[in-house]
Amino acid sequence: MRNLYLICLLLLGTLAQAQTARKTEDFDGGWKFLLGDEPQAKNVAFNDHNWRALDLPHDWSIEGKFDEKAPTTQAEAGLPAGIGWYRKTFTVPASAKNKHVFIDFDGVYRNSEVWINGHWLGKRPNGYISFEHELTNYLKFGQQNVIAVKVDNSEQPNSRWYSGSGIYRNVWLVTTNDTHFSHWGTFITTPKVDRTQATINIKTTIHHALTQRADLKITVLDAQKKVVASKLIALKDTAVNQNVSISKPMLWSVNRPYLYQIKLQVISGKQVLDDQVFTMGIRTYNFDTDKGFSLNGERMKIKGVCLHHDEGALGSAVHIRAIERQLQILKDMGCNAIRTSHNPPAPELLDLCDRMGFLVMDEAFDMWKKKKNKFDYSKDWDKWHVQDLQDQVLRDRNHPSVFVWSIGNEIREQFDSTGISIGRELVGIVKSIDQTRPVTSALSDADPKENFIYQSGALDLVGLNYHIETYADFQKNYPGQKFIGTEQMSALATRGHYDMPSDSIRRWPKDGKTSLKDGNPDLTVSSYDNVSAYWGSTHEETWKIIKKYDFLSGLFVWSGFDFLGEPVPYLWPARSSYYGIVDLAGFPKDAYYMYQSEWTNKPVLHLFPHWNWQLGKTVDVWAYYNNADEVELYLNNKSLGVKKKTGDELHVMWRVKYQPGTLKAVSRRDGKTVLTTQIVTAGQPYQIKLSADRSKIKAGGKDLSYITVSVLDKQGNPVPVADNLVKFNIQGAGVLKGVDNGCQTNLEPFTAQQIKLFNGLALGIIQSKHAGGKISVTIAGNGLKPASLALISY
Ligand code: GAL
Repeated sequence: MRNLYLICLLLLGTLAQAQTARKTEDFDGGWKFLLGDEPQAKNVAFNDHNWRALDLPHDWSIEGKFDEKAPTTQAEAGLPAGIGWYRKTFTVPASAKNKHVFIDFDGVYRNSEVWINGHWLGKRPNGYISFEHELTNYLKFGQQNVIAVKVDNSEQPNSRWYSGSGIYRNVWLVTTNDTHFSHWGTFITTPKVDRTQATINIKTTIHHALTQRADLKITVLDAQKKVVASKLIALKDTAVNQNVSISKPMLWSVNRPYLYQIKLQVISGKQVLDDQVFTMGIRTYNFDTDKGFSLNGERMKIKGVCLHHDEGALGSAVHIRAIERQLQILKDMGCNAIRTSHNPPAPELLDLCDRMGFLVMDEAFDMWKKKKNKFDYSKDWDKWHVQDLQDQVLRDRNHPSVFVWSIGNEIREQFDSTGISIGRELVGIVKSIDQTRPVTSALSDADPKENFIYQSGALDLVGLNYHIETYADFQKNYPGQKFIGTEQMSALATRGHYDMPSDSIRRWPKDGKTSLKDGNPDLTVSSYDNVSAYWGSTHEETWKIIKKYDFLSGLFVWSGFDFLGEPVPYLWPARSSYYGIVDLAGFPKDAYYMYQSEWTNKPVLHLFPHWNWQLGKTVDVWAYYNNADEVELYLNNKSLGVKKKTGDELHVMWRVKYQPGTLKAVSRRDGKTVLTTQIVTAGQPYQIKLSADRSKIKAGGKDLSYITVSVLDKQGNPVPVADNLVKFNIQGAGVLKGVDNGCQTNLEPFTAQQIKLFNGLALGIIQSKHAGGKISVTIAGNGLKPASLALISY
């Protein structure tokens, strides 16, 4: 009898797997767009023939011109905002008549209003939150339907950084049966984990009272898609709370991000009524007042960076490959954590962090009720903050990468007693949904007696921004508390630009009262890691302290990449930030290699600056290195001496009288060479060199290949100061989606077909077309030998 039951179960399982009940369709294609306001566009009969046809995700701001007078201000790169409308005509099959149909928006900046067949579905002010509308009752099955979306980003200024405008994240059409898993209604946790066994707890809610007998099937699959546990239970209630166990669990970590899948199916007889698959990582972690952070019982520093959401030349429109490339560049540097400053991220960022091995501090707000900008989210606070925060936690709580919630960044309520009540309220909202993760807030007032958000007593972790001079005393100032460095540095640099001398620290600007007087006329900042904003500190100054004390669990560098807007320390025409370890185009600045030498075990020897100077100039030569005892520098084969890092030093330096030729560095351990690197004085620009990060990309209009353009002299040496204008010619199955060179003051549009190199480099971003095929890329410049390369889209 028991065997028969088992066979039935197995059979059921096989049948269940053969059908899928839920349909989640990419709804990005085939939209019409109008930049401007057209209130009639919500009506079905409205004629949108003259509107522009496009596919989402779409950011209209990035297509505009940089303008010093734009209402968005320099804080948003002087790019335009305004109002835009989107419409899409689509057919829902007659077979969907008894189904539920939903539209899911991952994010619309901002104030979106949605109409289906002329019926208003709702408004969502928050530009970073995901939301769903049910369409079912207003659809015409087997016929055409019209969805219209108004996006209103016209009230400016409303952001301290570039937000972009439009339906800039993905959109999905979800069709389910009457019985279906509730939206974000599933929470999967691992309450007990050890080396031999993990208990997986699954809480889920199912929409609609069950009138027929139905079962819930839980299947746990390992990374090879092998079933490692399964369970079938009779559904008695719409809320389910079940445990399953797996033995010898593989743990998720930043170095080995092992992922399981949990498949949930509601089965009735032979029919699968709904199914959903969740990604799960099994990990434990802990913050300790003395020992800092540990993951799966192993101590480690949080080596994080803060990221805004823009993807440089592509603006804020989500391109999964652009996010993946950013994360790959950071991973190679040894970064293990991302802070989604200062808003809920695109869901794809979290998927990538799960898969690539990054911890994520998932942040909710940059302001509460008190504003930072005249028209910012503070205006929507009273009505929306509860739902926005709830939705963020509901959406993101199943990601193994998410390890800390932040309820806000440098919130003004830290300075008055409302910080206590709102702080408690927000932590309460998070905890009512997720009790497995600590909550923090990024505090800019480091005095525990003054900071009301800290005094709320609600925070699990004291998150400090800046004020590194107080960190050594953290345990004294905050007895019994746990530290997390939520935001540090604000060091400034322009890639490839070097000012001598390199060993004096500059604060640009020097305080909050005076504007910058000793800046460079060409609005560059030296890349020797000796410049920071006055509230911040250099990379080296900061990392030395975090490294020194065990109780300092780690940090989030402001910022991983340069981003659009907030171009401290300069005024117009500066339009993007100087804070990045990596520039806006994705080219690392020199500090990148300081981190790589400290944060990875791979051998590093990074020598800079370039070697094209005026004869006789005194040039500071720096080297970042690791895995070695010393570095010897040679100029034209003559030794300039051996240097060793002593104490807590993070680089070595030689002061050299410039002569052209070859500058060579050799790192050695126990007398044996570890690495050798050299820089050669380049002659005149002669030929273009291209390299693609990926030569094969996917067809379908979404995948990207990033082409780095450099200029070589006749001998093949890169010309570090080249600023030649280069023109792109793309033929075949791809288009040029954007150009960039990392220069913070370049006011040419990112959508141009040409660009000047900046300090020897430029970037072209190629996007596949819908149909696959060959893509030929040719880049030419006046008086330069052109270069070509071939890509394939498949
Ligand atoms: C911080 C703030 C960031 C950014 C940074 C620039 O105070 O949290 O959003 O503005 O300063 O230094």
